[in-house]
Amino acid sequence: MQKEGEDWVYSEIVKDHFLNPRNFLMGDEKNFKYDACGIVGNPICGDQMKMYIRIKDNKIIDIRWKTYGCASAIASTSALSEIAKGKTLDEALKITAKDVDDYLGKLPKHKFHCSVLGHDALKEAINEYKAKHQ
Ligand code: FES
Repeated sequence: MQKEGEDWVYSEIVKDHFLNPRNFLMGDEKNFKYDACGIVGNPICGDQMKMYIRIKDNKIIDIRWKTYGCASAIASTSALSEIAKGKTLDEALKITAKDVDDYLGKLPKHKFHCSVLGHDALKEAINEYKAKHQ
């Protein structure tokens, strides 16, 4: 049983991904050659996420992202980008926000909606690519 206040604590994995985000797009998006981009907003907090993917042989060979989102959004999108890299488009579409939450050792419950941001942006990017190429 969870103790009072415990749900506010970030796991060590969350802190690591927040402080050392993987695949974060530094600078201008012109510096990253991508095949599709997904842009979404979080209806709960108004934050935004952009996700850029490079595709070869139907696989995500590289991925970058940027966001106005909070620490939880940064950590969860960092984790998502690691999970998604190397996957086929269909495999990546099957990644759930719960998969990301599990990978991170759980976000505080009231921050779960932040993990949906990267997840939705990735879906958007994949669907954009599929609409153009399949
Ligand atoms: S509060 Fe907006 S993404 Fe977390």
